[in-house]
Amino acid sequence: MTEGAANAPVIQSMYAATASDYEEIWAPLLRPYGLRLLDALPLADARTVLDLGCGVGRLLPDVAGRASGALVIGADLTEGMLRCADDRFARVLMDGTRLGFADGSFDAVVSAFVFFHFPDPIAAMTGVRRVLRPGGAFALAVWGTGEVFPAMEAWDEELDAMDVPPDPAEDGPGDGREIVDSPEKVRAGLLAAGFAEALSESAEWLRRWDLDAFLEWRLRLSPSRRRLARLDPGRREAVVAAARERVASMGPEALLHRDEVVLASARAPA
Ligand SMILES: C[S@@+](CC[C@H](N)C(=O)[O-])C[C@H]1O[C@@H](n2cnc3c(N)ncnc32)[C@H](O)[C@@H]1O
Repeated sequence: MTEGAANAPVIQSMYAATASDYEEIWAPLLRPYGLRLLDALPLADARTVLDLGCGVGRLLPDVAGRASGALVIGADLTEGMLRCADDRFARVLMDGTRLGFADGSFDAVVSAFVFFHFPDPIAAMTGVRRVLRPGGAFALAVWGTGEVFPAMEAWDEELDAMDVPPDPAEDGPGDGREIVDSPEKVRAGLLAAGFAEALSESAEWLRRWDLDAFLEWRLRLSPSRRRLARLDPGRREAVVAAARERVASMGPEALLHRDEVVLASARAPA
């Protein structure tokens, strides 16, 4: 068994501080991609299903709806996130890089927007294969590359120009984002982890924010929230006003947020 994720303390403090904001703002935006993962899993006959890195548990009712009669377990590293999840579901505080389940425990595992957090995502895929029964199914989503979002670039530029200190999370141990940021890398990783029938594809992330929703997001979640939290209240207000003005001056097209989501699925060897 491994030592666990080296970045675990950073992840826990990052998500614990914003769990209810995450639940309100971010989880609904990720859910459609989670549903696409569920489409790739044969859940109708499943008896045990794991949502690895379930966060606030937004996907758990969807899993249960498709795997009626199954034991559905949500596992996550961050207690504050798990506490937001519906307590009708089994919720387990656990590091996904050292899964404390017996070999062959699950018919299916789903993991939405988690594997880039693992410093060694391929080792974590090997762990998922271990806890799947032979022939069990796995589906995951991660971020790809090529984000285009002029408003966010301008916002960050303003913070830099006004000498707002960097996100303290940047000082911690790195994550594994670059190891799994394309369909090709994820598929190769799944095969290296011993999975069969690995499939992967790129899906579009396209969201048009309005200015107020964009500001809420920047102030309540994300690295910019942590950066701004390092300022005293007066300075923070001045920085936010300047950054807001800059984004507002750019017009609505700047608030069009494009990105890539990588969706993948695979089977444990029969
Ligand atoms: C972006 S959120 C995704 C949550 C949920 N799957 C969703 O789609 O809304 C990432 C989640 O991964 C969890 N996480 C990060 N590293 C982890 C680890 N080593 N073990 C278990 N969970 C982890 C975080 O606590 C957080 O809840």
